[in-house]
Amino acid sequence: MTRPAFLMTDPAHYQVSYQINPWMRPDAWSADPVASARAASVGWRNLKAALEGAGGVVHTMGGVEGLPDMVFPANAAVVLDRKALVARFRSPERTGEERHFLAAFEDLEAKGVIDAFAQIEGCFQEGAGDAIWDAGRRFFWVGSGPRSSPESVAAVGDYFGEATVHLPLASDRYYHLDTCFCPLSGGEILYYPPALTQGARATLQERVSPDKLIEATDEDAAAFCVNAVCLGEKVIMAQPPASLRARLAERGYDVVPVDLGPYMLSGGAAYCMTLRLDLQSSPVAGAPTQPAALVA
Ligand code: ARG
Repeated sequence: MTRPAFLMTDPAHYQVSYQINPWMRPDAWSADPVASARAASVGWRNLKAALEGAGGVVHTMGGVEGLPDMVFPANAAVVLDRKALVARFRSPERTGEERHFLAAFEDLEAKGVIDAFAQIEGCFQEGAGDAIWDAGRRFFWVGSGPRSSPESVAAVGDYFGEATVHLPLASDRYYHLDTCFCPLSGGEILYYPPALTQGARATLQERVSPDKLIEATDEDAAAFCVNAVCLGEKVIMAQPPASLRARLAERGYDVVPVDLGPYMLSGGAAYCMTLRLDLQSSPVAGAPTQPAALVA
């Protein structure tokens, strides 16, 4: 079986120098930029080690000076079946990243990691942060609101030829779906209800049985723990409240905490610091599948 593959961006040029979401704290970063950069580099290395420790392979790309948020590659593309759909960012602070990510995908294609890539046209779409593949149910959960446009739902579905389920977001604080929504390998969904519109919550309840829905608390969401990477029974996340860790342990998950404080100062954590490169639409032989009753 192939190992799960991820893209991460070297954090050498990471900093918090502007504010495009309510979590961003340029003041806190610049109080001691040297110590902040050192802590960011340690957090990044620990996250990479946690992914590798859980069986993942990490491809790294370089960052670019003046484009600090390149360290969040989940926002740069949606990847499925070895095809990448490259993002269009809404904020001018991030649009400069697009050509560097296009070059990175060209490189990944040349290396045989992916087969094809294209950039989404005609709407804003901020990558796998707002288009989350549900491996058990076999469709994309697609967020829209502060960043990705509602039109991106159809554009993502068309490019991959897969079904999409739209979950409009309710607030600026939870501006990407990955800040408030995380499918786990056993079919559960860890999510933060206040971040979704009433319509999105109704859609979720239609699609997912109540025993599979795990509600994150205010504290869990504010600690960026919903922005997690799940690999089998391991759930890699920013330092969780003890109660979340215990609730996930009851369901058989082993939480792997990583101190990602320097990235939370930018409004991001484990999931958005990574981009999964090897997801497949059809189940891989030997991989755990979703019980038939829950497949939408
Ligand atoms: N500062 C970045 C931004 O606002 C953080 C992105 C984090 N990504 C995420 N999917 N939550 O765009």
